[in-house]
Amino acid sequence: MTSNVKLEQQTAEGAVYYLFGATGDLAKRKLFPALFSLYKEGKLADNFAVVGLARRPRTNDQFRTDVYESIVEFCRYKADDAALWNKFAEHFVYMSLDINNVDGFRELDNLSSELDKKFDIPGNRLFYLALAPELFGPVSFNLRDGGLLNSQGWKRLVIEKPFGYDLESARELNAQLSQVFKEEEIYRIDHYLGKEMVQNIEVIRFANAFFEPLWNNKHIANVQITLSETVGVEDRGGYYDKSGALRDMMQNHMLQMLTMIAMEPPSRLQPEDIRDEKVKVLRSLRPYKSSDDVRRNVVRGQYSEGSLNNKTLVGYRQEESVNPESVTETYFGARVFVDNFRWAGVPFYIRTGKRMPVKTTEVVVEFKNVPENVLFGSREDVGPNLLVIRVNPMEGIYIKINAKRPGSDNDVQPVAMEFCQSCQVGINTPEAYERLIFDAARGESTRFTRWDEVAQAWTFVDPIAKAWNESKEDLAFYSAGSWGPKEMNDILEQDGFHWWPVNGQEEDNVIWISGNRK
Ligand code: BG6
Repeated sequence: MTSNVKLEQQTAEGAVYYLFGATGDLAKRKLFPALFSLYKEGKLADNFAVVGLARRPRTNDQFRTDVYESIVEFCRYKADDAALWNKFAEHFVYMSLDINNVDGFRELDNLSSELDKKFDIPGNRLFYLALAPELFGPVSFNLRDGGLLNSQGWKRLVIEKPFGYDLESARELNAQLSQVFKEEEIYRIDHYLGKEMVQNIEVIRFANAFFEPLWNNKHIANVQITLSETVGVEDRGGYYDKSGALRDMMQNHMLQMLTMIAMEPPSRLQPEDIRDEKVKVLRSLRPYKSSDDVRRNVVRGQYSEGSLNNKTLVGYRQEESVNPESVTETYFGARVFVDNFRWAGVPFYIRTGKRMPVKTTEVVVEFKNVPENVLFGSREDVGPNLLVIRVNPMEGIYIKINAKRPGSDNDVQPVAMEFCQSCQVGINTPEAYERLIFDAARGESTRFTRWDEVAQAWTFVDPIAKAWNESKEDLAFYSAGSWGPKEMNDILEQDGFHWWPVNGQEEDNVIWISGNRK
C-alpha cells in the first residue's frame, strides 16, 4: 500500500491493540514507548485502545504505572505533560489471561466490544504476540474460538521472531497460523527492517546516479556486513543457548540486510513487488553443498573469558542459564555468494557476534580498483573506493575517495566524505518499533517478512546447522571483547581482502570531511 499522503500526516486506523506478553521485556523496552511516541506525534488517532494481556494479575492502574515507568526510562519523548499523559493512559486496560483457556478469550471479546463503543473503534483488531513462538498457534486458535475474529473491521496478527527453529518447524507453525489468518493478515516482525538506515539503503541505491550504475560485479569487489554487539547473552541464556547467532541474527536480520543490498529495483514500490525482489535474492544464494563446503565458508565462534573497557568478562559457558559445555555459537561469520547476473563472483562477507569491541551495524561496499595506468601504475597508496552505510548506533553514510595530497607531486590522499545523520541537530530518529507498529496499523506490509522469505532463509540456513550437528570440531573460541575468530579473517585473506575497520576507525592518514561529526 502506498499513499500520496505524506507519512508524517498519516494516522493509524483506529483499532484495539492486544499486547500478549504485556508484562515482558519487549513491551517495556520497545512497545509502550513506541505507542507513546506515535501518540505524541499525532499518528494514533483518538479511537484506539490497548489491552495488556499476561497471566499475572494486575489492575488497570498498576498497568498504567508500568507503562508510565517504561516511557520514562525508554521513550525518546518525555511524559511530562500531565494532561497529555492522562489522556493517553485512559486508552490502556489490563486483563489477566490464561492463554490456554478459551473462556478468557470470550471475556476478552466482550471487553473489546465495550472498548469499541467507548472509543468509537470500527472493530479493527491488531493482535501483537510478544510471546514464545510455540504459543502463536494456540493463541491464534483461541482468538478464533473465543469470537475475537468476528467483529466488523480488519484483523492483523503481529508476531516476533524466531519463526520456527528450522524449515520444517517453520512450516508447521505457518500451517497452524494459516488455519486462522490469511497471509496478508500476518505481520512477521524483523525489527531491522524498521530501522531508518536500513530503509535508507533503498534510497541510497535507487536515487543516486553515483551508485546504481556501479551496483554490480563489474565494479564492486566485495560487500561486508557487520552486526556486532558488546553485550553478552544477558539474562536470555535460556533462549539463546538453543538459538545461537545463526538463528538469532543470521537467519533473519543479516539475510534481510543482504537482500536489501542485493535486490533488483522493484518495478513498483508496492509491498508485494518489493518482497518478490527480496525473495529472488534469497533464492539466488549459493547453497552450501556439503559439510566441507560449510566449513570452508562459514565460521562459528563462542566467546571465552576476556575484557572490554577494562572490565573482566566471563566466558559464554559461565553465563547464567547456559549449559557449561554448550557448543552454541555467539559468533557467526560467512562468505556468501548471490548467484545471479548482477552479483556473480562478488563475495558477501557477513559477520555477527556478541561481546565484540563495539556495537555497530554497518555495510561496507568495496569497489574494484581503477585499471592500472601510467600515472598510478602499481602504487600502493591508491586504496579502493568505499561506500559505508552505518545503520546503528551511528546513522549515516560515508564514501572514501582518493585525492591528491596538496603540495605534493601526485601523492594520493584518501578522503572520507561523511553524512552523519545521527549527528544532525534536530534529527530525532524514530525507533524501529514505532515505524513497524504504525505500518501494521495502517496495513503497510513492506517492512514485514512474507512467508516465502522466511522459508527461503531457512532453506539456506538449514544445511549450516546440519553440518554443525555432525561435528563440533570447527567451533572456534574468541576472547570476549575481541573481533571474533581469526578463521573468518583468513577467509577474506584467501580472497585478497580484509575487513574494513568499523565506525570509521580508519587508517591515520584519512582526511575526514564532515560538518557535524561528534
Ligand atoms: C534481536 C536479537 O533480534 O536483535 C538479540 O534477538 C540482539 O540477540 C538484537 O541483541 C540486536 O538488535 P539491535 O537493534 O540492538 O541491533
